Amino acid sequence: MARTRCPPLPLLLHLLLFAAAAAAADPAPPSPTPWPERFHAVMFTNLTNYSDASTGPPLRITDLYYDWPRRRNLNLVRHQLSADPLYDVEWNNGTSFYFDSRSCRVERFPVGVLPPWWLSGGGARYLGRRVTGGIDCHVWGKAGFIVYYEEAATGRPVRWNFIDVTGIQQFVMRFEPGVALEDDAQWQAPAYCFPDDDEEEEEEEGKSNDPASSSSSSEEFGDELEVAIRLLRNLAEAAATS
Ligand SMILES: *[C@@H]1O[C@H](CO)[C@@H](O)[C@H](O)[C@H]1NC(C)=O
Ligand SMILES: *[C@@H]1O[C@H](CO)[C@@H](O)[C@H](O)[C@H]1NC(C)=O
Ligand SMILES: *[C@@H]1O[C@H](CO)[C@@H](O)[C@H](O)[C@H]1NC(C)=O
Repeated sequence: MARTRCPPLPLLLHLLLFAAAAAAADPAPPSPTPWPERFHAVMFTNLTNYSDASTGPPLRITDLYYDWPRRRNLNLVRHQLSADPLYDVEWNNGTSFYFDSRSCRVERFPVGVLPPWWLSGGGARYLGRRVTGGIDCHVWGKAGFIVYYEEAATGRPVRWNFIDVTGIQQFVMRFEPGVALEDDAQWQAPAYCFPDDDEEEEEEEGKSNDPASSSSSSEEFGDELEVAIRLLRNLAEAAATS
């Protein structure tokens, strides 16, 4: 009877070989899928760390028109029950216009539009496989600032969370590769965005100082990470637009 307690040698050997083979075949972590050069996405946005002091209404539906060939990006943000959508038009020269039917804010970022390979091009850390919204996903983190979910079966983006004080989470409800917003009038910032260009510059200087001035002290991280973080901050800013 004592015999049956330990497996016969061939079985042990088999198990060992199997374990060794499994370790050797451990596949490299999957790579993120680059974004299509143009797409339209409809996203449900939740600023999960909402507080009256820090942000506007926490729930929004955001139409994102991403247009890399023309180096522009449009977020059409609809706050819950608001009839007046907020436009966020970003240009590759770093200028972003935030406007609704009454007001406009112009901001300068030290980066342009996020390239399609912003995640796939390097620096993404694979975090494993998770189910979100019932969808089986691969998950990556980048620059300690974003957690990105893509559908394992198709590579479509499913969700991203920003690690920032507003706790922005965006859920992709519709994803339409190749769809562009052709109507140029939709991209055009209204006249009240351009009251007096010279005065605008002064205020913007201060704003864009933050990432620029930190670049010398964080040289050890390399320029690429710097740029990645700036790009992602830009994306987060768009998502948290109030
Ligand atoms: C938004 O996020 C908050 C905080 O996590 C959560 O309590 C709330 O249920 C979320 N709202 C929706 C509609 O998902
Ligand atoms: C950037 O491009 C947009 C769109 O062409 C333009 O309105 C804006 O003035 C430009 N900004 C700068 C700083 O050149
Ligand atoms: C949530 O927001 C509050 C105030 O706006 C901030 O003090 C707190 O650190 C934030 N929480 C997280 C997890 O970032």
